[in-house]
Amino acid sequence: MKITIIGTGYVGLPTGVGFAELGNSVWCVDQDPNKIETLNNGTVTIYEEGLEELFSKNLKSGNIKFTTSMKEGLADTDLIMIAVGTPPHPETQEADMKYIYAAAAEIAEHLSDRYVVIATKSTVPVGTGDEVESIIKSKNPMANFDIVSLPEFLREGFAVFDFFNPDRIVVGSNNEKASNLINKLYLPFDGKTKMHFVSRRSSETIKYASNAFLAMKVHYINEMANFCEKSGANIFEVAEGMGLDSRIGNKFLNPGPGYGGSCFPKDTLAMAHMGRKFDVDLNLIESTIKGNSDRQKQMAKRILNTIKDVKDPTVAVLGLSFKSGTDDCRESPAISIVQELLFLAPSLKIKAFDPKGIPMAKTLLGNKVEYATDSYDALKGADLMAILTEWPEFKSLNLDEAKSCMRKNCIIDLRGMICTDKARDYGFTYYGIGK
Ligand code: UGA
Repeated sequence: MKITIIGTGYVGLPTGVGFAELGNSVWCVDQDPNKIETLNNGTVTIYEEGLEELFSKNLKSGNIKFTTSMKEGLADTDLIMIAVGTPPHPETQEADMKYIYAAAAEIAEHLSDRYVVIATKSTVPVGTGDEVESIIKSKNPMANFDIVSLPEFLREGFAVFDFFNPDRIVVGSNNEKASNLINKLYLPFDGKTKMHFVSRRSSETIKYASNAFLAMKVHYINEMANFCEKSGANIFEVAEGMGLDSRIGNKFLNPGPGYGGSCFPKDTLAMAHMGRKFDVDLNLIESTIKGNSDRQKQMAKRILNTIKDVKDPTVAVLGLSFKSGTDDCRESPAISIVQELLFLAPSLKIKAFDPKGIPMAKTLLGNKVEYATDSYDALKGADLMAILTEWPEFKSLNLDEAKSCMRKNCIIDLRGMICTDKARDYGFTYYGIGK
């Protein structure tokens, strides 16, 4: 099948590479000439486990091609996937649809009476399919097309794995011809995953309802962590016990500094906005948004509290990306916490390390913090080790070496990475969460 993907970000690029690997002929279109040049020169523009290898293989074989030209990318295509960003609108916080609508208008110019299916892969508010349809119809009445909603459920850091091992494929289609084409696209997954065919509006809602539910689950376990701290229980034991109930499930029950990233924060805000638009109370989602933002502020206060008696303290921040396995620092709780620390204590010295996130962190924090070359470099002369992201390498830190690097031996571990008893055995004062 000939597929055109509009947008080469965290959704578009892994999706394009995945469909190319399955033997389709894929054109990726992006209006950023630098990105397209880099990709055409054989360099991947994002970090994703396993992506580089598949990207190089399919670029060499010609299964995937990159262009800035919509005309070139759309020639003879069977299926167009819109995978451009829907960031929060700076004033209203609803999903900003300007990139989607601009893409739709540009696509319209190149359509003809040759049938094509247009799928929205980006996370888009309910009713977007109808809006995209009317934009294209009004710009090009001759165009022969159907719109489907094909939401993406890839996790950053696991995008390649998730592409080839989806829990489900949700297809929102109001038309059999379009549904058949999508069915054909996913034939390689036949018997391995469930195809869930629903209306376009249901499909658009499934994506938001899923992300908001997961965000709420994270917020819930964080509230329980606070409760355990006061009640004498241990959140890790509690989460494990809850997760043994198959109705609850053991995933997304890890307490931490709150959820972040380019999806949960923006999608919960957009869902809350849709609730107001349709005049429906979405109290759970509203309270999740507030609770998550408060949590990051509370975590910054906790960090400062551990060093309140230290003169001219230095904090070693371990982890800047919004979770492990990615270089992405957008809406990262670690970044918010560092910003809050510097707001509350402007003279605080921070030395930060992240295995992948430093280049993006630099664009967000600039020179307000010092960037270290590894964990031990960050710990040199520090009074506090603050673990903010759950990178596996922080779990296996050599505590002897850490201790000899540091000025004071204190750990605040917001991700439950280091065993409390082990830290204390090594002579550290240890502050965790949820126990
Ligand atoms: C999320 C969804 O999981 C994907 O299914 C979806 O496709 C994607 O958004 C999207 O809409 O594009 P992602 O943003 O990559 O994926 O991140 P998650 O792995 O879901 O984690 C989100 C945040 O929750 C992170 O900050 C993470 O540290 C936090 N989290 C997650 C916890 O604090 N505890 C947990 O138990 C799980």
